[in-house]
Amino acid sequence: MYNEQMKVVIIGQGYVGLNLSIMASKNHTVVGFDINNSLVENLNLAKSHIEGITDEDLRIAKSLGYRASSKPEELTDAEMVVISVPTPLNENREPDMSFIESACLYIAKYCQISALIVNESTSYPGTVRNFIKPIIENNQKEELLHSYAVAPERVDPGNERWNLENTPRLVAGLDAIATTKVKEFYSEFCVEVREVTSPEVAEAAKLFENTFRQVNIALVNEFAKVTNKLGISVYETLNAADSKPYGFMKFQPSLGVGGHCIPVDPSYLAHVAQKLGVETKFINLANETNLAMPTYVAQRVCSDLGGTLKGLQIMVLGVSYKQDVADIRETPSAILISELKKLGAEVSWHDPLVANWNKESSAPLAPVDAIIIAQMHEAFMSVPLDRYSSYIFDCTGKFPTQHSL
Ligand SMILES: NC(=O)c1ccc[n+]([C@@H]2O[C@H](COP(=O)([O-])OP(=O)(O)OC[C@H]3O[C@@H](n4cnc5c(N)ncnc54)[C@H](O)[C@@H]3O)[C@@H](O)[C@H]2O)c1
Repeated sequence: MYNEQMKVVIIGQGYVGLNLSIMASKNHTVVGFDINNSLVENLNLAKSHIEGITDEDLRIAKSLGYRASSKPEELTDAEMVVISVPTPLNENREPDMSFIESACLYIAKYCQISALIVNESTSYPGTVRNFIKPIIENNQKEELLHSYAVAPERVDPGNERWNLENTPRLVAGLDAIATTKVKEFYSEFCVEVREVTSPEVAEAAKLFENTFRQVNIALVNEFAKVTNKLGISVYETLNAADSKPYGFMKFQPSLGVGGHCIPVDPSYLAHVAQKLGVETKFINLANETNLAMPTYVAQRVCSDLGGTLKGLQIMVLGVSYKQDVADIRETPSAILISELKKLGAEVSWHDPLVANWNKESSAPLAPVDAIIIAQMHEAFMSVPLDRYSSYIFDCTGKFPTQHSL
């Protein structure tokens, strides 16, 4: 049923695909296929581009047989193929399935033996059954009977407690054989593999997890606006509510959500709901509320500083979307900077984890009229920030100041 040492081709060697490649290399011959040639070259030189994966991790994986390749011909004799390519939103904020489609077309064109095809990319319920399988089957020259399964990645970058090994993995196949195979594969390196009855359950669970976060973050962001008007601390109030030992889960207010999961995944759920004729009011409202946070912060700062930012120098600290992570995708700092500029400010940004962004370099810390802490990276903890400005607005709850959410 399952070959102990298979050739596994992992399509996409980004955050998800590379982490999986490192793990799977311990038991299988892994080829990391990616269309980005320079990324492939660097991986083969054991140079990692992913936070949390060291060059040493890559050297070990290489010694176990891992290699990266930009040649789709590697799929010819693959016994298992994992899809881990991006699933962003298009300009209309609808699912952009083009990367998954392109991966499927490679599989259809190059796979020559029946393989287990597993999707790890986040997507809407029905993706494996109604999108991946038909594209592969309708485009292959020979009629190969692949098995299909899903195993959504749930990893949280920068989370020191929960990782690929100890986060329970949801799996399901389109048939019993695929389910058994996918379960065996992930059981080799995941402490808990949870089989669910259909790929749609696993796909929907993944989307609901991130929708739950998106909606609760929006709720607490709205609450922060209320506590501000009440003249009480949102953080003290949340800590007080959190003393209730049941029925409450604390979320932190913030500048908004970023990365390519929380602001994106709920729209995949909304997309499928819309197709089914179900309105997703919470998702739409949460998107709207979180997207409005940077404008709210810019206006708070403007009002604190006398109603205009004209000619004032403002530095945004920590522009990545999350503390201690370098990722700037969908970062709410982008909207914040643009709003501050609209209000007349001269804006610079400083982030030791993000050297270049939007064709600008991280500016050195220097005296300014105002500092806005968007992300409180560990690196800032020991910096005497009040030396650089007498006005500091904190969006993180980690810096003692009178000006915060
Ligand atoms: N990064 C996370 O924290 C995280 C967590 C859970 C789930 N996910 C999901 O996992 C999927 C992958 O995310 P990621 O963060 O690894 O993305 P990424 O952008 O870091 O990497 C994707 C890689 O796929 C490559 N690629 C794109 N199209 C390709 C193709 N047709 N053939 C071969 N390679 C191709 C790109 O060159 C890139 O290197 C997404 O669906 C994402 O939502 C990500």
